[in-house]
Amino acid sequence: MERPYTFINSAMSADGKISTKERKQVRISGSVDFDRMDELRATSDAVMVGIGTVLADDPSLTVKSVERRAKRKDSGHEENPIRIIVDSQARTPIDADIFKKGKGTRIIAVSQSAPVERVNALGNTAVVIVAGENKVDLSELVVRLKMMGINRLMIEGGASLNFGMLSSGLVDEIYSFVGNLIIGGTSSPTLVDGVGFEENEICGLEFVSCDRMDDGVLLKWRVNAAQAFD
Ligand SMILES: NC(=O)c1ccc[n+]([C@@H]2O[C@H](COP(=O)([O-])OP(=O)(O)OC[C@H]3O[C@@H](n4cnc5c(N)ncnc54)[C@H](OP(=O)(O)O)[C@@H]3O)[C@@H](O)[C@H]2O)c1
Repeated sequence: MERPYTFINSAMSADGKISTKERKQVRISGSVDFDRMDELRATSDAVMVGIGTVLADDPSLTVKSVERRAKRKDSGHEENPIRIIVDSQARTPIDADIFKKGKGTRIIAVSQSAPVERVNALGNTAVVIVAGENKVDLSELVVRLKMMGINRLMIEGGASLNFGMLSSGLVDEIYSFVGNLIIGGTSSPTLVDGVGFEENEICGLEFVSCDRMDDGVLLKWRVNAAQAFD
């Protein structure tokens, strides 16, 4: 089944953490990386996050640059990419910044077991997609997104969604800014958490590039799910 071209974009500390043990957002990269991320958003059809990130960070996921929003509109698109939350139980707060800030379509992906009253409440401001019994079936979701015309999908975390997408073989590339700080902590989220891969199913990567940026480096990897480690 056809799915969108999909990439993960993330910022992590030198020890691979994407936030603190309290799951508090930390500034890991600088203005050059923020601008690069804004360009990625502006050139994507949709941006997707997990409900854990919404509850922890309350991101708006809007395109920040006025020029980039204008360029999107001039080419016949909404000024922001479609913003998608993966939220099996429809826990997204009605007053989340994703709803309050910026114009454009929002999608909430829920499971069949999500409480009906929550789904109805979110349905007033977002398109609701039901996929999966108790947890969002990501493989089904991305096929549905492709059918809606989403060809380029940006994943902005967090750690559990990144694992869900990678372990389902739904990611083409990973862009990871590595910043000049150590966060530490066994419970601090890393770039990829979830239950982890078994040894025989470890997700192989192909190196694409490494560039100095701000006070860190930007690493780009192509995901090669077929490649297992020897
Ligand atoms: N530095 C960065 O670049 C960056 C970017 C984003 C986030 N973060 C950090 O990451 C942390 C949040 O990460 P997180 O792991 O707690 O949350 P997350 O990945 O944002 O969301 C995970 C949640 O998504 C839902 N989900 C539904 N279906 C799923 C599926 N098939 N696979 C995986 N998840 C599914 C699950 O909740 P339900 O079962 O209730 O649906 C799951 O608990 C925060 O601390 C945030 O600050 C950092």
